[in-house]
Amino acid sequence: MKFSYVNPTVIHFGQGQIAQISSSIPTSSKVLVIYGGGSIKSNGVYDQVVEALQNHTWLEFSGVEANPTKETLDKAIELVKSEGVDYLLAVGGGSVIDGTKYIAAASLHDGDSWDLITGQYKPETAVPIGVILTLPATGSESNMGAVVTKKSTHEKLGFMTPLVRPQFAVLDPDAMKTLPERQLINGLVDAWVHVCEQYITTQTGNMVQEGYAEVLLRNLLELGAKFEQRDDAWRENLMWTANQALNGLIGTGMPQDWATHMIGHELTALWNVDHARSLAIIQPSLLRSQMAFKRGKIEQMGRNVFQLEDSDDLAERTINAIEAFYTSLNVDAQLSEVNGDKSDAVDAVLAKLEQNGYVKLGENQAITLDVSREILTNAL
Ligand code: NZQ
Ligand code: ZN
Repeated sequence: MKFSYVNPTVIHFGQGQIAQISSSIPTSSKVLVIYGGGSIKSNGVYDQVVEALQNHTWLEFSGVEANPTKETLDKAIELVKSEGVDYLLAVGGGSVIDGTKYIAAASLHDGDSWDLITGQYKPETAVPIGVILTLPATGSESNMGAVVTKKSTHEKLGFMTPLVRPQFAVLDPDAMKTLPERQLINGLVDAWVHVCEQYITTQTGNMVQEGYAEVLLRNLLELGAKFEQRDDAWRENLMWTANQALNGLIGTGMPQDWATHMIGHELTALWNVDHARSLAIIQPSLLRSQMAFKRGKIEQMGRNVFQLEDSDDLAERTINAIEAFYTSLNVDAQLSEVNGDKSDAVDAVLAKLEQNGYVKLGENQAITLDVSREILTNAL
C-alpha cells in the first residue's frame, strides 16, 4: 500500500442543512446559483436557497441539461465573466455539478472552454464551488471529476483537477423526495457501478478499501431490495452511500477499471441513453470478457456481497447475480434505442472510442478495440 489521500470537501449532511450555505459562502462573494430544468422549484430547495442567501449578492443561471453541454455552459461562462462572479453554487444532480465544475475552470480562460477538455488549457486556478445535492448518484459533489458533452460533435468527455473539487456539499435527503423513480434507480445503479469500477480488478489484500467497497455494495443491494418501502432512513442511506462510492476513498491506491464508463459514455453521446442504463448495458458483458483478470475478485464479490456458496462457476454466478440486480430494479439493459441488427451501432461506438483514443481500456489496458467490439457485440 502506498498512497496520499485527501478529500477537503466539507459535507453538511441531514435534513434542514441547506441553511448552512449562509455561513459556508463568504458574504463578500458575488454568487452565481446554477441549476437545471427547474426541479428545485417544485421541492422547496430553491426557496431555501433564496432564504439562505438573503445577505449575499447573487444571480442565477438555469437550464443546465442532463448530460450538460458545452453549448449551454458557455452562456454561464459569459455571465461569470461579464458580472464578475466569484463563487458558484451548484444546486442539482451530477449534471449541474459537473457543469458548474466546467464553468469554474473555463471562466478563467480567455480561449474556447473546450480547451479544458482537450488539455490545451491547463487551469491553475478556478472559481470556488459549493454544492446542494438533489440526486444521489455520481459522487460529483465531493470529487474532482466532471463529464461534459459537446453537442455539435456528439462528444462526451471528462476532465479532472483538484481545483474544481467543491469546498462544501449539502446532502439533505429531503431534496430527493421529488425524484422520479427512474432517476432514483439510475442513482442506485450508477453508485453501484462506481464501486465496481474501483473494486472488480485484482485482489489486492487492502482490507480497508476492499472491505469498505463491499459494505457499500451490500448497502446498495439492500436499498434496491427495499425500494418499495423507502422512507427517510432509506433516502439517508442511499445519499451517504452514493457519496462514499465516489469520493475517492475506496479507489485510493487501488487499481481501477472505468472501461464500463468509457464505453457507456459513448452510448449516451450517440443515443442519449441515461448514464446509469448505459452502464447496466455494458458491464455484465465486459466482466465476462475480462474473466481471465478478474475471476478472483468477482468470486470474492460473490462470497462477500451476494453471500453465494463456493463453486467452480462462482464468478459466472456472481455476474448473473449482478444482472439479476438490474432486472429486479426494472433497468432496461438492452439498447432499445436501436432497433433490429445492432452491428451498425457497434461500429458507431467503436469509431467514437477510436476517435477519443480509448483503444486500451481497463486496469490492465487489455480492452483494445477488438475486445471492445466483442464486449459490444455481446452487450447490445
Ligand atoms: O434539471 P432538473 O429539473 O433538476 O431535473 C433533473 C434531471 O432531469 C432531475 N432531478 C435532479 N434532482 C431532482 C430531479 N428531479 C426531481 N427532483 C429532484 N430532487 O434528474 C434528472 C437527471 O439529473 P442528472 O444531474 O443528469 O443526473 P445524475 O446525477 O445521474 O448525473 C448524471 C451526469 O453525471 C455524469 C454523467 O455522465 C452524467 O452526465 N457523471 C459524473 C461523474 C463525476 N463527476 O464524478 C461520474 C459519473 O460516473 C458520471 O459520469
Ligand atoms: Zn457513473
